[in-house]
Amino acid sequence: MRDAEPSAIYLKDYQVPSHLIDKTHLHFILHPTKTRVSSDLTIRKNPDADTKSNELILHGQDIDLQSVSIDGRQLDDRDYQLEAECLRIANVPEQFVLSVVGLIAPADNTSLEGLYKSQSMYCTQCEAEGFRKITYFLDRPDVLSEFTTTVVADKTEFPVLLSNGNPIKSGSLDDNMHFVTWHDPFPKPAYLFALVGGDLECIQDSFTTTSGRAIDLKIYVEEKDLDKCDHAMASLKSSMRWDEDVYGREYDLDIFMIVAVDDFNMGAMENKGLNIFNTSCVLAKAETTTDAGFQRVEAVVAHEYFHNWSGNRVTCRDWFQLSLKEGFTVFRDAEFSADMGSRTVKRVEDAKLLRAMQFAEDAGPLAHPVQPASFIEISNFYTLTVYEKGAEVVRMIHTLLGAEAFRQGSDLYFERNDGKAATIEDFVSSMEEAGGRDLSKFMSWYHQAGTPKLAVTADYNSSSREYALTFNQTCPTTPECDSEDKKPYLIPVAMGLLGSNGPLSLVPETDVDFSLSKNDTHCVLELTQPQHRVVFKDINAPPVPSLMRGFSAPVRLQFDYSPDDLITLMTQDDDGFTRWDACQQLCVSVIHEVEASLQQGKEPSVDSRLSDAARALITNQNLDPAMVALMLTLPSEGYLAEIATTANIDTIHSAREIVRNHLAASLKTEFAERFDSLPYFPEYEANAVQIAVRSLKNCCLGYLVATADPVWLERAMTQYRTATNMTDQSAALSVLALSPDSKAVDYSVSALSEFYQQWQSEALVVNQWFSVQAMQPGEKAVDRIRSLMQHEAFNINNPNKVRALIGAFANNNPVCFHNSDGSGYRLLAEVVKKLNATNPQIAARMLGPLTKWRKYDSKRRELMQAELNSIKQTVGLSKDVFEVISKSLA
Ligand code: PHE
Ligand code: ZN
Repeated sequence: MRDAEPSAIYLKDYQVPSHLIDKTHLHFILHPTKTRVSSDLTIRKNPDADTKSNELILHGQDIDLQSVSIDGRQLDDRDYQLEAECLRIANVPEQFVLSVVGLIAPADNTSLEGLYKSQSMYCTQCEAEGFRKITYFLDRPDVLSEFTTTVVADKTEFPVLLSNGNPIKSGSLDDNMHFVTWHDPFPKPAYLFALVGGDLECIQDSFTTTSGRAIDLKIYVEEKDLDKCDHAMASLKSSMRWDEDVYGREYDLDIFMIVAVDDFNMGAMENKGLNIFNTSCVLAKAETTTDAGFQRVEAVVAHEYFHNWSGNRVTCRDWFQLSLKEGFTVFRDAEFSADMGSRTVKRVEDAKLLRAMQFAEDAGPLAHPVQPASFIEISNFYTLTVYEKGAEVVRMIHTLLGAEAFRQGSDLYFERNDGKAATIEDFVSSMEEAGGRDLSKFMSWYHQAGTPKLAVTADYNSSSREYALTFNQTCPTTPECDSEDKKPYLIPVAMGLLGSNGPLSLVPETDVDFSLSKNDTHCVLELTQPQHRVVFKDINAPPVPSLMRGFSAPVRLQFDYSPDDLITLMTQDDDGFTRWDACQQLCVSVIHEVEASLQQGKEPSVDSRLSDAARALITNQNLDPAMVALMLTLPSEGYLAEIATTANIDTIHSAREIVRNHLAASLKTEFAERFDSLPYFPEYEANAVQIAVRSLKNCCLGYLVATADPVWLERAMTQYRTATNMTDQSAALSVLALSPDSKAVDYSVSALSEFYQQWQSEALVVNQWFSVQAMQPGEKAVDRIRSLMQHEAFNINNPNKVRALIGAFANNNPVCFHNSDGSGYRLLAEVVKKLNATNPQIAARMLGPLTKWRKYDSKRRELMQAELNSIKQTVGLSKDVFEVISKSLA
């Protein structure tokens, strides 16, 4: 029999909890299939609850219930009702201690939610609703409880037993067992609970806070990974310092621990005092980790640490407020990374991600507001919209208020809501108060899905010497709301005007609010209406407008720039983001011209202004090499597909390749000279200077290999073999393995086999090896993926491996994934069906590329829909997959 279709829950239906749980005592006896969990919960009726009923309904799933008692009196099964997802107790007193004993089976838990085993280690993941798979509880973020946890396990197999807070007691028991008791003095929701048991080693350090408290810092890993923890530890200490300096936030417990696990659905988790990390986000070492990997570790360590205030001390009232903690924390970690490395590079990378991926989400069938109004499965809402767009929304508040008032607003927010579960409205109202301004017009950013389009037109009047810009904003229709029903957004537009001798002084006469920066060549306009006209006076000739500096709002900007305008912006604007963006737009327009020629069957030609501009970039020694590399990197096929109405994958690919090969051929000498003149650093460090140099060097190498000159194929192979760091080694591997030229094949085959030989014992490096092969071009791609799925190193129960192989194929190998024979779609559907039964969260995530079927031609649409429909028929379809499929087919 088919289960009833899962139903949605709504923000508007929020009600305070019927009961509060002041204290939680947990006792675990770890066992692979019969872990015994005993809980004593000190419960009282919530004085704020309006219900008269004395019923208590606790969440619980997959628990083998052993006993229930109230104040020591055992209940029999007439006193309670056991359902698949809850335990109902009809008549509870005003105040009482509820004791429940249950058995759970961590070794059988492949969902990686609740208590599970990663290799030999026990660990937990409770956000969002995993705690209910451990014991019966009010598993909702607005129920905060003080936890005391005892863990019992075999002393030899599990010498390390951890939970949140401080260790208060430990000792030996019979049968070679031992126990440790932990107490966390800070009341917290159950989603922040954590437990770890394993044979782990740790590195230790200490951090002294501004107020003089010494905090013990520990990173626990398997012994073989002890040599890969230093970067995470250094990152943790920088994060702690930064949060004190920039936000005035000190750490609160005496101990802060990180544990690395191989099997993890996400990047990492901010459990109070005991962060649990995916190994991919904590381990780093020059030989095994790329520069991007090092930066990711630094960012994720900071992100989780920052959650101690934005997430833990102040948590979310309900899951509709997820972006309250995630958007704010991503904003915080982005600013931290900007301060640690290059601010402009970080901004460009974030804008790139947003425009290629989040805009696509916002334009697709799963589009939702930063504060969603409803969901079926909350796990599906850990999205780019909630995280990255949510961070952009916080950044706009920062722009509108200025740094100082923003800091006052955050102080007020933390002070007012400390120890509480808050809402997005609480956050904004603190900002309103500190900024002394009304942000009600700003709230569209939280409540409406879709990426606003900002179309700008210009006119210049030579007799009045006035230059006018007209801004028109619209927001497309999204699943929940028609375009016509959408409210306008408050859009901050950071801008300037470029004349023939550089930036012009701005004398605006406008119908919008604006603020000028100290040098009067930069201003921020605040658009609030569907249309605005802004007039600038005393302009002697038509200028080039520099718009959305620093990517000041997550909108699609439309302005009819000529290639020469773009070159002016690229070379003369003060803002690094705008310079990069102008270069991207120039690339886009050149690629679009080539696409048009291909479609008309004409011989394509590449606008020489692009190669001239690129030459100027490569040969300019005064620019940040990282920015040169970013500017010389053509827009991705993903981004080109995203901005197309109907994405013609093959044409996009061919056009991009033509432009790339043209640049490679016409600038070969310049690329070679730059490649040879950039320094090599024998002592690897993951600092901004070194990372910048390596990124430009490897960018040059990519173009040089694209010429298919045997000399450069050989040099790439030499770099592959002699590299002493993973950045240079894997860059060489990728350019060879992804080259479509037949002359590269032998190199590619040798490099791939040597790579596996060298790195087979390093799981994270093997994942890179899977990814490169997943992205290789050619007719045989799907067969190759299928055989790699049979490889000894592949394991479908490990999310990192699934992402490395299947995720890389479906997201980063568009030509092969979208093969018109449907074989790529079929492969993905098969994988999703398997994962649906073992790990629904990952299954739903992997589905992403199939849900965007509306972007493609009718033949592909049909093939994709057919796969979606066949998944939909799966017996035992999880809520997670059901929600994604049904929304995408709706
Ligand atoms: N809260 C985690 C973070 O953003 C992400 C996460 C969500 C991890 C759900 C696991 C499960 O830092
Ligand atoms: Zn987070």
